[in-house]
Amino acid sequence: MRFSVNWRVLALSLLLAGGSAFAADGSPKAAPPAPAHAGSLRPGHAAVASANFHATEAGLEVLAKGGNAFDAAVAVASTLSIVEPESSGTGGGFMAVLHLAKDGRDVFIDARETAPAAVNPRDYLNPDGSPNRDAALRGPLSAGIPGQPAGLALLSGRYGRLPLAQSLAPAIRIARDGFQPDERLRGAIAGTQKDLERWPASAAKYLPGGKPPAKGAVWRDPDQARTLELLAAHGHDGFYRGETAQKLVDAVRAAGGNWTLADLTGYQAKERTPISVDYRGYKIVTAPPPSSGGVAIAEILNILSGYDLTKMDAATRAHYIIEAMRRAFRDHNDYLGDPDFVQMPLDMLLSPYYAAGLRQGILPDKATPSSMLPRAEAPEPGMHTTHFSIIDADGNMAAVTSTVNYTMGSGFVAAGTGVLLNDEMDDFALVPNKPNVYGLLGSAANAPKGGKRMLSSMSPSIVIGPGRTAVIGSPGGSTIITQVLEGILHFIDGESAQQIAAHKRFHHQYLPDVVKVEDGTFDAATSEALTKMGYTLKPRESWGFMNVVTWDREANKLDAASDPRRPSGLGKVQ
Ligand code: GLY
Repeated sequence: MRFSVNWRVLALSLLLAGGSAFAADGSPKAAPPAPAHAGSLRPGHAAVASANFHATEAGLEVLAKGGNAFDAAVAVASTLSIVEPESSGTGGGFMAVLHLAKDGRDVFIDARETAPAAVNPRDYLNPDGSPNRDAALRGPLSAGIPGQPAGLALLSGRYGRLPLAQSLAPAIRIARDGFQPDERLRGAIAGTQKDLERWPASAAKYLPGGKPPAKGAVWRDPDQARTLELLAAHGHDGFYRGETAQKLVDAVRAAGGNWTLADLTGYQAKERTPISVDYRGYKIVTAPPPSSGGVAIAEILNILSGYDLTKMDAATRAHYIIEAMRRAFRDHNDYLGDPDFVQMPLDMLLSPYYAAGLRQGILPDKATPSSMLPRAEAPEPGMHTTHFSIIDADGNMAAVTSTVNYTMGSGFVAAGTGVLLNDEMDDFALVPNKPNVYGLLGSAANAPKGGKRMLSSMSPSIVIGPGRTAVIGSPGGSTIITQVLEGILHFIDGESAQQIAAHKRFHHQYLPDVVKVEDGTFDAATSEALTKMGYTLKPRESWGFMNVVTWDREANKLDAASDPRRPSGLGKVQ
């Protein structure tokens, strides 16, 4: 898919600006200069926050053995694969923003899954031409080629201090010795039991004695321990070639999938340039495509940079944030995909001129109905993912968001590997011009193709301000973007890691044209004011679990917070 002329974006800008692509004073506010990076000082101690205490402790263990933030990231991600398999794992993928203390460089690691070469959109259609949601979400056809093992090998080999085997050791130990699954994992297994029962290796792993593990039961994962040992011993090739690769391909093909050994040997995690945006003296470093998250966050911040949110009442502040979200999501749906396959007008989408044009279309006291904006398709990605944040004693930082997509991914465990495969294929617009599970249409930029990465919302981010730094991210499907955006704004407002993680949240994504609101976000007067402006507010119970670490560089103090919505999480400074 090619968007060869940027006039399309410019035209949209002009349309929304009512004839001008520029702000009222004719010159869009220039972004402030990026603050100095955080490398001039070292914290001297470390902080880790993740959605599970076993994983946080694994990260701290590897740091205590002389590892850096990137070794710790390998330990946390691999341990989450064992103790939080409903959200992420060896059979999935991740995206990470790294900050390297030694030279102040920011790096993006793309360990996103890819479509197998034999992907066929017809496999995701029922005989009557309607979308086959089961094929998209369950079983081997729903699984992309995993990226996590390659990403961990890259992280360790290129940026770590310790051998990969040492960073994987806590996960292997927990998998061999066992652990007690928390309530959320037991609930996820119970909630997907019917799917897990469809594949013998899935049932054998997750339904011992035909039932989900009981409360307090010790649960072991020896097959996955062996898979991680092969990765530890042979690095990248220990997963993508040899015994594990053969078992994965055999299992997938026996169950009706289409993977080949070439899909696995051809997989590479990639290093890309992260997106950087300056907002009110803070530099935000975040995820580029194939995530839509960073582009959307940057576009929203560029629009908001024309307002002083700190001087507004709650309803007016929410109004401008929602209108910026609406416009960024419209673009997200229309333009974004895998940069190795799709040309995207990123220079325009990220420019302050474009944001100034969008700003001109926002009325001060009225919601813009999404139907009044140029039409774009609006896929909504999956809901279940995990995020962790790390700062080490030298000031290296890792913001990592990892996923198998929906709860328990595809539900399909490849026999003999212990690997639960993702269902990331549903993050593609699988069936052009056919509505997805939400009744929405997908965009051609995100159509599936062999070797192509599906669009993600993952938005791992690092925020570097004049005196403070935050490492931040969240799960939550399409709400990842808005939750991380709100976390960034709260950090810039001066909130602590704990306040940011606990803060109530809201979300708008262009379509459906409703504001999803967590209970307690707005008081009655604010809700009434927003409703009068034309917003439809809808309660939403499920929100992401934000894990944040902050570094007050002036006081040289670290802080770590795990989202209180998730009791098994742990943020800890050591
Ligand atoms: N599977 C969720 C995402 O990548 O956005």
